[in-house]
Amino acid sequence: MYRSHTCGELTIAHVNKEVTLAGWVQTVRKFGAITFVDLRDRYGITQLLFGEELNNQLDANPLGREFVLQATGKVSERTSKNKNIATGDIEILVTSYSILNKSAVPPFTITDETDGGDDLRMKYRYLDLRRNPVKRNLELRYAVGRSTRNYLHENNFMDIETPFLIKSTPEGARDFVVPSRMNPGQFYALPQSPQTFKQLLMVSGYDRYYQIVKCFRDEDLRADRQPEFTQIDCEMSFVEQEDILNMFEGLVKRIFKDVKDIDYPEKVERMTWEDAMWNYGNDKPDIRFGMKIANLKKPGSVYTAKTAQPQLVDDAGFVVFDSAETVLAIAAPGCAEYTRKQTDELTEWVKRPQIGMKGLAFIKCNADGTYKSSVDKFYNEERLKAIADAAGAVAGDLVLILAGAEERTRKATSELRLEMGRRLGFRKDNEFKLLWVLDFPLFEYAEDENRWVARHHPFTSPKPSDIATMINNNPAIENAEKYLEHPYANIKANAYDLVLNGNEIGGGSIRIYQRELQEKMFAALGMSEEESLHKFGFLLGAFEYGAPPHGGLAFGFDRLCAILGGSESIRDFIAFPKNNSGRDVMLDAPGPIDDKQFTELQIKLDLK
Ligand code: AMO
Ligand code: AMP
Repeated sequence: MYRSHTCGELTIAHVNKEVTLAGWVQTVRKFGAITFVDLRDRYGITQLLFGEELNNQLDANPLGREFVLQATGKVSERTSKNKNIATGDIEILVTSYSILNKSAVPPFTITDETDGGDDLRMKYRYLDLRRNPVKRNLELRYAVGRSTRNYLHENNFMDIETPFLIKSTPEGARDFVVPSRMNPGQFYALPQSPQTFKQLLMVSGYDRYYQIVKCFRDEDLRADRQPEFTQIDCEMSFVEQEDILNMFEGLVKRIFKDVKDIDYPEKVERMTWEDAMWNYGNDKPDIRFGMKIANLKKPGSVYTAKTAQPQLVDDAGFVVFDSAETVLAIAAPGCAEYTRKQTDELTEWVKRPQIGMKGLAFIKCNADGTYKSSVDKFYNEERLKAIADAAGAVAGDLVLILAGAEERTRKATSELRLEMGRRLGFRKDNEFKLLWVLDFPLFEYAEDENRWVARHHPFTSPKPSDIATMINNNPAIENAEKYLEHPYANIKANAYDLVLNGNEIGGGSIRIYQRELQEKMFAALGMSEEESLHKFGFLLGAFEYGAPPHGGLAFGFDRLCAILGGSESIRDFIAFPKNNSGRDVMLDAPGPIDDKQFTELQIKLDLK
């Protein structure tokens, strides 16, 4: 027997008991003839006391950090207790011990606040994983997975595995490909998601499917993206959007309860895509705080329902606003007192290349009801007040105004809102707010190819009321400049995203389940009949054999865990993640392969 207890469980109730522990040496402290050792395992830390009689043995073979040690002794009450750890009331008076394995000096300290930089910790990830903060993240991930499985099991979902070596199922990213030795010159693709398989499972009658599954996408990486990541992938038959929203809102609430002991009381809020873009400047708004965007100028035609907007900045002779496609404002509460230095700093902030604006105008709403503005040359008090009112500003607030091209300005204002929200303390890690974003456009215009692409994926159905528009119009875009006037630009999808604190944690749709409509969809995306048969013949074929109405969604499991853990970096919640260049620095992968492997695959490298 290696151990009788773990390093996290002994308390005053165990005093006088003979125990054996095994773990890693956290610290060694020598005081004259006695030595204290903190022994650590997954469960905690226990203090060991080596008395005089073991001195010679210790001196002959000194213990070092991270040695693997087994120690037997008696549990004893400590004279000076440590209130910070669960085992702080006791220590072990060691009678015998053995070094199970030695350790080289670790390249960084295995403590909560380590001295190791990112790269070093990634290279020695197996050591980093010994640290408490990382361990807590993995424990949280495990808890989220367990809660998910329980809920889905209770709701009749069946976990079914789908293959990793497949033909590509495009989701908008690049595929990772794998050469086939047995089929020279041919390649598998790793799935970007099990999308088509779960739809086929619906055709097969498995009406509630789920899988916690790896997905692979060769895309540019960011804090919330990894080349291989995990989804909670789900699909249901005989459902409408409402059924899906209820089922998966239930799942997230259950996870909140099980993992964070949070009762998420309200019904999850809902917002149309158009309102999200209009009021928050992006399709995944953080609604933990207000600061909605005010549109000061009549918009372009992207936001079809918003044409009656007042024109608050026109005709004042201010050329920046007059010539801009879009002028947007937000009110920063309590910031009217910002100094020149502070407003200059904000102006520099919006001018950074990542934000890309030319300048920032502001209106200070003074406590005495007057207004002071960087543009008061052009706007009198009455007009400044009208703008401030539109932004929802009150006395004491600072109105920030951005002007420029529609897309960039909306994105920049959205970023500025998030930044101000963060600076003002409105975005707390331990406060959670969910939001369904609904009614996405079905299509997006791909300028470089002058064609439509599916905003979600090609299996997403249009809203029933838009099916006729899709069927009865030619998808061809005659005039690229005026693509927004094409009837396809207004077709809405039966699609939904779940947003948590400004992060897209899941998305899905009600699917197309009739062959004709699916064919029409492929054609609308510019695929020839031959091409769609070649790529998706299996799915079109399946739709001929009694495909039920169905829909589903997938959660980004890593993202969900990261946000619940109070971080926006998913890396910290993955045991062995890749860095931002897609490398595993511990394995040093990707790497070259042997000539023999190339020969077997009948592949010759011709690097450019
Ligand atoms: P989608 O592409 O929106 O939908 O992906 C679902 C969720 O997965 C997460 N996610 C990622 N997480 C980490 N790294 C990545 N590279 C990454 N890419 C996506 C996001 C996202 O919301 N088959 C459809 C789902 C469906 O229609 O049922 C799909 O994959 O949180
Ligand atoms: P100017 O006439 O260039 O001195 O600008 C007058 C004010 O308008 C200054 O406060 C500028 O920061 C601001 N401004 C300039 N360009 C923009 C823009 N694109 N959006 C918002 N404000 C701007």
